[in-house]
Amino acid sequence: MPQRPYIVGNWKMNGTRAMLSEARAIDRAAQRHMKVEVAVAPPYTLIHAVHREAAQIAVGAQDCHPGQEGPHTGDISATMLADAGAKFVILGHSERRESHNESNSCVQDKARAALDAGMRVIMCCGEADKIRQSGKAEDFVIQQLRESLPAMENATENLAVAYEPIWAIGTGNSATVDDISAMHTAIRALLVELYGVEEGSEVRILYGGSVNPDNARELLGADEVGGALVGGASLTADSFMGIALAAGEIQDS
Ligand code: 13P
Repeated sequence: MPQRPYIVGNWKMNGTRAMLSEARAIDRAAQRHMKVEVAVAPPYTLIHAVHREAAQIAVGAQDCHPGQEGPHTGDISATMLADAGAKFVILGHSERRESHNESNSCVQDKARAALDAGMRVIMCCGEADKIRQSGKAEDFVIQQLRESLPAMENATENLAVAYEPIWAIGTGNSATVDDISAMHTAIRALLVELYGVEEGSEVRILYGGSVNPDNARELLGADEVGGALVGGASLTADSFMGIALAAGEIQDS
């Protein structure tokens, strides 16, 4: 991994204020692992509280609205998230694409809004099991990203991509190192095509899908893997920082 590994926890719809102690423990541990960039995306309700308490980790959101303000009951804009202390937003997660019918163009609009608000974006992509079985996973993911990534000046400075095969999320069945290497290499080629060699090479490509402290070292060692987007194993400081530790060991080796 040429850049500092980026280990991001996606708490999804988990966590009440009782979880702030975990966030504090993650933050303390992150101060001892400065070679790794650690971040957490709690539910909206905890963003400001985590931001206030965190000295080392960045806090982010799991979605944003494409607009800045207005009559959108229940929605939250990137500007508001930034105001609450969020430094990044996860966009286009398969759970949102599925349960909120988010199209690629909707995700792209959100990405533009988030970058305009000065936030970093983690753009998710990933294929369903049926698509993988049909042998079209790479074509699907590249098309999804082509239509979801924003074409903006300097977009890459604040951009990361997360490859999360849907069949690997929350199942305990992570993708194999070979599959991850092949997909991340294809994603890198797309980033270079879209943004040019220099900028396209800078964007970190994270892997997500059943990453845990036991498999992290192997998965993070795959080609073109710049970090991990972690769901279940990010909910406790012990397991999450076990993953960060593995990422740091790869840096050292
Ligand atoms: P799990 O780590 O629970 O498989 O979730 C991955 C994910 O969806 C992170 O965004």
